[in-house]
Formats: sequence, C-alpha cells, structure tokens
Amino acid sequence: MKRSLSEDMIYSDKFDLCNNDFKLKLDKFLKDWKKYGAVSTPKEIVRFMIKISDIKNWEGLNILEPGCGFFDFSREIYCQYPNNNFTGVEVNPEIYEIVTKLFPFRTILADFLLWETTEKFDLIIGNPPYGILGFNRYPIKISKEIKEKYKYLYKTWKGKYNIYGLFIEKSLKHLKKGGKLVFIVPCTFMILDEFSKLRELLAKSGGIKIYYLGKNVFDKNVTTCVLIVTKDFQFRGNLELYEVKDNLKNVVLWYAKKEYSGEIIKFENEDTKKFEEGKPKIQDLFDLHFAARSVEYYKNPKVSKEPKPGYVCVLKGNNLHPNWIDYENCYTGLWVPKESVGEFRWFYTIPRIVVGHTKGGKIVAAVDEKCYAWREEIHLVPKIALSIEEMREIAEYLNSDKMQWYVKTLYKDITPHTTITQLKLLPLPEKYNKYLKSQKQILLKYENKNEQCIRLL
Ligand SMILES: C[S@@+](CC[C@H](N)C(=O)[O-])C[C@H]1O[C@@H](n2cnc3c(N)ncnc32)[C@H](O)[C@@H]1O
Repeated sequence: MKRSLSEDMIYSDKFDLCNNDFKLKLDKFLKDWKKYGAVSTPKEIVRFMIKISDIKNWEGLNILEPGCGFFDFSREIYCQYPNNNFTGVEVNPEIYEIVTKLFPFRTILADFLLWETTEKFDLIIGNPPYGILGFNRYPIKISKEIKEKYKYLYKTWKGKYNIYGLFIEKSLKHLKKGGKLVFIVPCTFMILDEFSKLRELLAKSGGIKIYYLGKNVFDKNVTTCVLIVTKDFQFRGNLELYEVKDNLKNVVLWYAKKEYSGEIIKFENEDTKKFEEGKPKIQDLFDLHFAARSVEYYKNPKVSKEPKPGYVCVLKGNNLHPNWIDYENCYTGLWVPKESVGEFRWFYTIPRIVVGHTKGGKIVAAVDEKCYAWREEIHLVPKIALSIEEMREIAEYLNSDKMQWYVKTLYKDITPHTTITQLKLLPLPEKYNKYLKSQKQILLKYENKNEQCIRLL
C-alpha cells in the first residue's frame, strides 16, 4: 500500500516537495530496514538540528546527507533555503530508485563508507545507520571481506564497533575547514570503550557540541544525542554538553570545557564532584571481570542439568539482590562440582563482590561468600587483602541511595546497562585510601571446600 503511495507521487503532477505530501517512512517501506539501519527522522528533530547547527548564511553551501534514505534533512533545508547544492549517498537500490525520481538532489548509489571521492562539504547532516557490524549475529549484516575493508580503512574501529562511528569518521574527513558535521546518533559514543578512538578523533578535529535528547525520539530502544563538530583546529579541545528538555523547547548547558582530549563524557556537576572528592575508585582496589558465558557451561561435560551431591548451582542475575545472594533457587538449571568452579573462571574460588549488569543503570551488589560459579554479572576481585566485612561494607555503599543518585546523574540513560567502564570509576568510602598508600599488597589465597571459601593464611 505504502509503495503505491510513492508511485502515485512519481506519476502525479501535483506532488509538491515542500507541501508535506511526502509521508513515507523507511522502516515501514523496507522489509529489511534493520539490515540497513534505515529509520526516518521525525520532522521536528530535523528542524531542531537545522536550528542548532547555527549556520548563519544558507547560500551556496555544499551539503551532504550520507545514508540519505528519503532525504529528510535535504528536503527540509531545500524548502527553507533552496539556494544550496545537495548531495545524498544511499546504498539501498530500492530507495535510490524512488528518490532519484522524486527529488531534485544529486544522489549517489554507493556504500558511503567505501565511496571514493575527494569532495569536501560545508555541511554534512543526517541520521546515519546504527548497529554493530557483523555477518550473522549483528544487526548490520556485511560480508567478512567488507568488514576487513572497513577495519583497514577506518582508524577509529575498536572492539564490536558500530556503523555510526564509521559514518562520523568518514564525514569528518570530507568536511571543509570550518565545515560542520550535524548528526543524530546514539549517545553510547560518550562513554563506551569501543568509542575511545572516536572520542580522540573528535577532540582533535575541532569544537564539539553534544545535545542530549534522551530516549523516545524514535519508537526504538535507543537514547540519542545530536553531535555537532566544527572542523577547525583553533576550536580543538572545546566541548559543550547540553541537555534538551520539554519536547525540544528547553536547552540547558551542563558545562563548557576548553581542554577536552577524548575522555568519557559524563554529566558532571558540583554535587557529583563533591561526592567523588578524595575517594578511591573501584578500579584502585579491584580487578573487574565478566562471568563465564552460557556456552562455556553447555560444552563442559562436568556440568549437570540436575542437582547432585557435591554440586552447586551456577548462579545468574536473578540470584543477585542488594546485599544478599539467593543460593537456594537454581534459575540457570545448571549445576557444577563445587571443586571445579575454578575451571570456569579462576576467581570463582575466592570471595568477591558481584555487581549486576542491571537494566536502567541501577547498581545492585552483594558479596559471594560461598564462592559459586556464575553465568552473568560483573565480578569485583580484590587486588588487596580485604576482609569479608570490608567487602560487605563496600557492597552496601554501592547499593546506597546516594550511589544510585550519583550513577543516574552522571550517565542518565546513555546505556541500557551498567558497563564495566562506569563501574571502574565509581567512588568508594574515603577510608579505603589506606590501601592505596600501603606498599605491601597481599595476595589472597583460598581453598574452596564444603560450600565455603577457606582463607589460607
Ligand atoms: C537512519 S536512516 C536515515 C535516512 C534519512 N537520512 C533520514 O534522516 O530520515 C539511514 C539510511 O542510511 C542507509 N545506509 C545504510 N548503510 C549505508 C551505507 N553503508 N552507505 C550508504 N547508505 C547507507 C540506509 O539505507 C538508510 O536509508
């Protein structure tokens, strides 16, 4: 039905580009929209982004919309300021066919990330595709060869990289001096480790402005920001962070920095700084580890699907509660011999703090005093000889209301889960500074017996 709507437009004399006739949305139009990360941008967001781009003279600009889809940005700019040159790059041939018939813009059918050009633009604006790149498990499906090409071409690639990071890198390269990049993207680049090289590149490229929009811009589970970069070395190190409230009506400045060089970007204020002051961080006292994955249990012949004498349950998130662990209910339905827990992760043999990889940025922590095996969560393994009482006290501190306030203030809804990077930086009570000063660090040794961990002195 939707398809015939566009056909009507193509063959109708009455189709008026600037009269809001065009109603097609990419994720309704394309069956495989996920594979292309193809989602249309709401008109009010497009207008907001044009406004905050802060371009004073809209005449004769070379404007690029990479991943142009139905040209949501170029159409809006064209209707307000027609005297500019518009180019779009689109990889999907079905979309290409429609837009070349409907819109008076130069359109290139190509993978933007492999598009070879020396052209430079005054403004690169749009909504790039989002998603982790891979062959089968990941949303943006590409072949092994293409993935290797991207890795070779893009210096910001790190870990499980996201296609929007590549779009940013490529666009920065094609901006003129003084040109602007204006993209709506997920906010994850602000804090995740995978984007550390991208943050460094952004800091080196020019002045950065970030407008935090939060959730619900699209009807998808993604928290978005508008990223604006002015490519000019004289603005290097400038970072301004804004929060956008009340349906785009209210823009609040959190801070403006002059020496930004690629660190993670948090919503710091005087209160969060006061809370951190003089305190050691989790990473000073603990090493942080992920739990073993399901597959590691399924492929190990020692794992039983029913309880047996001498076996203990493999625990998961449901077993973890603030300050206590439910050792009774076996939600994984998997049991392992108690003396073998160390085969899955060595640190399962020692008491440690388990922190929930929880939704909504809430911190949930408890001490695993019985040294069980886990299938989920982040494990804080002490680097120094902490007593069980001290670990319990630290877990209580992590569960406190003050800590929940701190985490929510700093990170809002940037990621759906608490990440290791966030945890590493959480402050601990000041008194634990004493361990940073002590030269002698004692390694712990435990024997894993009879449901308990016995400390060997
Ligand atoms: C999030 S949509 C945005 C479309 C439009 N600019 C808008 O804001 O409504 C991303 C678009 O990028 C296209 N795309 C995805 N991967 C691409 C690639 N590697 N090169 C060029 N276009 C791509 C998708 O087909 C889709 O049309």
